[in-house]
Amino acid sequence: MSRTIAELVEGALRDIPDFPAPGVLFKDITPLLADPTAFAAVIADMAARHRAVQLVAGVEARGFVIGAALAHALGVGFIPVRKAGKLPGRTASLSYDLEYGSATIEVHADDIPGGARVLLVDDVLATGGTAVAAWDLLESVGAEVTGFEVIIELAALGGRERLAGRDVHALLTV
Ligand code: PRP
Repeated sequence: MSRTIAELVEGALRDIPDFPAPGVLFKDITPLLADPTAFAAVIADMAARHRAVQLVAGVEARGFVIGAALAHALGVGFIPVRKAGKLPGRTASLSYDLEYGSATIEVHADDIPGGARVLLVDDVLATGGTAVAAWDLLESVGAEVTGFEVIIELAALGGRERLAGRDVHALLTV
């Protein structure tokens, strides 16, 4: 029997204990990216749910890799959602709280036509803070965010609850 996409993703990840801090089991997606069959399957699975979008937005940094491939597969453009201070043009920004301190993300507002249907993509959904901020930032510049696609959802961290009412899809939930 052929493997499900969740089984394929799980088999292509590398677990790294105690990274980036003691006690954390890091889910490394680089083996998945290095495996052309797994990478293609992830992109095809995500693409099949979002044929009508006009742009894909990916969150720095691993969301760039997945988002750019997905945009290419869908035949649409790509919007990088960057950490503060990296984009050279006119930016819109949004700050959000982290466990300790805060973070700011930015987009080039001029690259997003008003009302554009935008799919948001990242590698991991943990607390959901990044995804909510990216979603709200895109909508603040006039986009219609149609959903959020992620490879891995870390269910214990509650990201899905934070994104309640929004279309969220994870290929693998752990
Ligand atoms: C990770 C991950 C998501 C975010 C998820 O990025 O790639 O963007 O954290 O966490 P959250 O749901 O709790 O907000 P990270 O901040 O490690 O940045 P990087 O991809 O540049 O390493």
